[in-house]
Amino acid sequence: MASIIIGSQWGDEGKGKLVDILSQDYDIVARCQGGANAGHTIVVDGKKIALHLIPSGILNERATCVLGNGLVIHLPTFFKEVEGLKQKGIKYENRLFVSDRAHLVFDVHQICDQLKEAELSNGASNDSIGTTKKGIGPAYSSKASRGGLRVCDLFHFDIFKKNLTRLVENKRKRFGNFEYNIEEELKRYEGYAEQIRPFVIDSVYFMNQAFKDGKKVLIEGAQSTMLDLDFGTYPYVTSSASSVGGACTGLGIAPNKIVNQIGVVKAYTTRVGAGPFPTELHGDEAEALRKEGGEYGTTTGRPRRIGWLDVVVLRYTGLINDFTELNLTKLDVLSNTPEIKIGVDYKYNGEVLKSFPASLEVLAQCEVVYETFKGWNTNLANCKSFDELPVEAKVYINRIEELTGRRVKWIGVGQDRSSMIIKP
Ligand code: GDP
Ligand code: IMO
Ligand code: MG
Repeated sequence: MASIIIGSQWGDEGKGKLVDILSQDYDIVARCQGGANAGHTIVVDGKKIALHLIPSGILNERATCVLGNGLVIHLPTFFKEVEGLKQKGIKYENRLFVSDRAHLVFDVHQICDQLKEAELSNGASNDSIGTTKKGIGPAYSSKASRGGLRVCDLFHFDIFKKNLTRLVENKRKRFGNFEYNIEEELKRYEGYAEQIRPFVIDSVYFMNQAFKDGKKVLIEGAQSTMLDLDFGTYPYVTSSASSVGGACTGLGIAPNKIVNQIGVVKAYTTRVGAGPFPTELHGDEAEALRKEGGEYGTTTGRPRRIGWLDVVVLRYTGLINDFTELNLTKLDVLSNTPEIKIGVDYKYNGEVLKSFPASLEVLAQCEVVYETFKGWNTNLANCKSFDELPVEAKVYINRIEELTGRRVKWIGVGQDRSSMIIKP
């Protein structure tokens, strides 16, 4: 049986930390979508490790880690991360696998990501998405338009060569004659083909065999439901299915295998990149939380935008994923905030909306209705149980449960692996 950990907001909720903690009880930890646009930070005994492609279960040597078919993989980034594991003394041999059906991200995709962003920002209005420039959109576009290359293609190099050349020619037709040396790239990939071979598996067979053998599977979501290609604030989204459905298509497993959908909720909201953010804060209030929470992107280093918790978002992402339980993270970051707000409804033309609107034009005209809470002004570092939390923090958590109709099971009160309260 499988459990999945999914972001409920706009990413960076702290998914990596929970995956790391829970992976101790699982046999397999698998990523199902996205690529190196993800940045998952884990802190163990004060030591930080940031992962982009490799699942956050890698620190638990008992767990086997899988990069599923739904990912788009930039092999140089993959090998750099593997090198990082080697240097830290983390054993990955025979426990880190890559799907033969996963698509490849080439440097040409990253170049086109940048060119497309530049194009979008070069008008009367700046319409760029604020992507991570990791080539994610262009790689998924290649996949959808059936011009992409997959991991298995590396082992049939004549065809690989023909198809990569065609891909680059197509991109040049679209973007002009950008600098890119296809011959050098092909030479590099001939080397990667041999390097990646020991990692490659038929992940569809592997995952389903694992279920047959009674193994426990933890699926690590990347990005988040509000960045999902279908359900997010389109076009300010990523290009993959980053909600629960992506687990089935991204791993080749049936929906009935997934028995827990764990939603990760930051105690306030952040967003990197452009796009709507109804409860966004500006000025000193935002800066104080950004500083307190270390809200700078793990992948790009960009300052994250900051806002209050938005329950309209949580109810919407709760519908899509049917969260069985929530992990409320970074509660400690709110400790110095005298007054805390939660956005509880959106009003459009004076009427409360039933759910999160599709149209960004409607969303822009919505007024957020807030509830206000007294802060706790207490350091949470020593709180090891729900009972030990200050009463104001308990009120805040209980109200989140009421407003979302979902149970909070884990509460993050610090960066370290050990700073996680389990709520009875
Ligand atoms: P992910 O992309 O969802 O895995 O989240 P990121 O790793 O990008 O960002 C979350 C950041 O918050 C990381 O630096 C985590 O170490 C940190 N973090 C996670 N949970 C907590 C928490 O409960 N308290 C604090 N202070 N930091 C946390
Ligand atoms: P994790 O897994 C936060 C955002 C980018 C941009 C949009 C599209 O760490 O939560 P892309 O490069 O995917 O085409 O960018 O999506 N984005 C993320 N924001 N956390 C992430 O991943 C993100 N991955 C992509 O900032 O707004
Ligand atoms: Mg992140």
